[in-house]
Amino acid sequence: MRKVVVPVAGLGTRFWPATAVLPKEMLPLVDRPAIEYTVDEALRAGLDDLLFITSRAKRAIEDHFDVPPDIERLATEKGIALTARPEARFHFVRQNRPLGLGHAVGLAEAHVGGEPFAVMLPDDVLLGPPDCMTAMVRLAERTGRAVVAVRRVEPAQVSAYGVIRPTGELERGVYEVGDLVEKPSPDRAPSNLAIVGRYVLPADTFRLLRETAPAVAGEIQLTDALRALNRQRPMLAYHFPGRVFDTGSKLGFLQATVELAMEHPQLGAEFAAYLARRVEAAAPAYRA
Ligand code: G1P
Repeated sequence: MRKVVVPVAGLGTRFWPATAVLPKEMLPLVDRPAIEYTVDEALRAGLDDLLFITSRAKRAIEDHFDVPPDIERLATEKGIALTARPEARFHFVRQNRPLGLGHAVGLAEAHVGGEPFAVMLPDDVLLGPPDCMTAMVRLAERTGRAVVAVRRVEPAQVSAYGVIRPTGELERGVYEVGDLVEKPSPDRAPSNLAIVGRYVLPADTFRLLRETAPAVAGEIQLTDALRALNRQRPMLAYHFPGRVFDTGSKLGFLQATVELAMEHPQLGAEFAAYLARRVEAAAPAYRA
């Protein structure tokens, strides 16, 4: 498996005005645009053919991964590691109508063809170990099954996610999927295992997406097509044990920033010391 579909067409209104002109995927997490964490996770999993589903005002993403040789040379002279990734191929298709995640993924059909493929939603920044996409690709190759990543969330939060109904544990941290539901209310959720934005899917997904009617929020939902897929070829859910940050929300974005800053090779120690002092000083106000 080489191909991964990365939907980035969303307007990012939750970050307006910061993202009125700038794609939200280009906002820096410490010193790198957020999208790079997803691209690197894909490359570590051997997914080196990346198709971005973009929209207007997202051209900066395309430019970012297309570093001209003169700039690369200048950066090398200055000892700066640029973001050129010569081993990767980047492709771009536009979604010019906001018809939902399922529609966005469906636009990849001509590029992906008849092969299994991955989908990665870059709002979810995942910090291992283990490496989520690598573990999923291995699991899919070993079992020949489609795989979706999940994590446990607070029961009150299930309505923000796709949620699976697990029917058994195939091996440690790998569930058989009985069903999937997009954004259920807490009283109707089949579990608190929420779908994380990482998928390994068969090419039949495209046919099922074409047959999927708009539903939640009037949009074509990827989860609904996977529900149909699951009836024909039961999927597996990989319980990702690492940290997941929803950088599509301001709080998640800030949390990811703090975590990555603390792990940063140059800044980490100094930043963590600052944070410890800062938290100590602020603590009385937050003590219950
Ligand atoms: C999408 C999917 C949802 C999944 C989530 C993960 O929702 O539709 O099933 O749980 O990503 O981040 P969105 O965040 O686009 O509303």
